[in-house]
Amino acid sequence: MSRLSSSSTPAAGGSTTGTATGPITITGTTTGTRIVIGDGMLASLGAAMRDVGLTGRAFVITERRVAERYGEAVMAALDADGFRPALVAIEGGEGAKSLAQAGELYAWLADQRTERRDAIVALGGGVIGDLAGFVAATYLRGVALVQVPTTVLAQVDSAIGGKTAVNLAQGKNLVGAFHPPRLTLIDVAVLATLPPRELHAGWAEVIKTAMIFDAPLFEQIEHTRPEALSSGDRRDIIARCVQWKQRLCDEDPTEKGPRMLLNFGHTIGHALESSFGYGTYLHGEAVAIGMVGAAEISRRLGLIDRRLVERLQASLEGNGLPVRYDARRVPPEAVLRAAAVDKKSRGARLQWILLTGLGQTTISGDVPEGLVLDVLHWLGTEEPAQHR
Ligand SMILES: NC(=O)c1ccc[n+]([C@@H]2O[C@H](COP(=O)([O-])OP(=O)(O)OC[C@H]3O[C@@H](n4cnc5c(N)ncnc54)[C@H](O)[C@@H]3O)[C@@H](O)[C@H]2O)c1
Ligand SMILES: [Zn+2]
Repeated sequence: MSRLSSSSTPAAGGSTTGTATGPITITGTTTGTRIVIGDGMLASLGAAMRDVGLTGRAFVITERRVAERYGEAVMAALDADGFRPALVAIEGGEGAKSLAQAGELYAWLADQRTERRDAIVALGGGVIGDLAGFVAATYLRGVALVQVPTTVLAQVDSAIGGKTAVNLAQGKNLVGAFHPPRLTLIDVAVLATLPPRELHAGWAEVIKTAMIFDAPLFEQIEHTRPEALSSGDRRDIIARCVQWKQRLCDEDPTEKGPRMLLNFGHTIGHALESSFGYGTYLHGEAVAIGMVGAAEISRRLGLIDRRLVERLQASLEGNGLPVRYDARRVPPEAVLRAAAVDKKSRGARLQWILLTGLGQTTISGDVPEGLVLDVLHWLGTEEPAQHR
């Protein structure tokens, strides 16, 4: 059993600075990664890279949709600080996280005569972050990586902690490396152009972080949608989630202990993603349903009361997220099998991240399978949720 409670402050694992309106800086204690979070940060990318000691050229890897909106601003910021930048924009989507795509990027870097003192700038969501991060980890046995995440999911999750990966036909994220960025520059202004469905799916991870670690944060966001927040509040909320993740990564860089707590909702969530077929649910949507399932398991084990399950569910629904799945399409038994397969392929037994209160979690390896199946029936039998 491992516990983290809302009384612990997320800043404890790294140093944090910031003012009421300016950017917030968080420095990872294990990796030394500097994370800068603010509104309108893209223009200071070059200066921020100089601040962390980068002096070579900058090679921006991005995808077309993001390049159309932010490519020019990023190139201008890098140019202004003498980084002599070059940019490549690939086709986005999960399919881009492939060895074939990595191979094309290696060739591009070789043609550009990229050297070890240069940096790769990953400009995009988690797909670009994982792919460009993997390329940075492996090209010339590792060049510096700068993450400029442009989705909520990437800002609070994938650009923090140094995990990079590509997919194989046999499964997601099977080939990868730990390669912590030198700098992660988070500009909350870019979230304004995210499609609403992506915005809310990413927000599920924010609700998750609040629910498992941070009662005051949950109370702040419980009844709010991200688009209704002021840019200052959005910056503060994203920064708080980043602090929590960075703190856990500092404590547990190789993901053997407390970092697992971040997987709240993910056992059922991953099982729904794979059993419904990837692409049916966005990751955050599947995790939203998974969190309600994990909360209900916690309730049936007597760890929390019904009211907390209802608050979590209402908060997710308020963000247009699904909280039930359609068991007529995929029966609960199949979801359970998918959860077991997912775990077995990683050589582990099913570990459940459960709630013991608002902002409080525990890990349990012995939740009876019958109870899980009952909850999967409960989660699948009500009206199929408003999944768009
Ligand atoms: N490395 C890690 O620790 C980690 C953690 C969680 C998830 N991931 C990975 O992250 C990936 C998912 O990332 P994602 O959800 O960011 O998806 P994504 O990168 O595909 O981006 C989602 C969509 O948003 C668009 N987009 C991105 N930024 C935009 C912007 N500012 N304005 C308008 N459109 C924009 C993209 O074109 C794309 O269509 C998965 O591959 C997952 O495995 C990695
Ligand atoms: Zn997740």
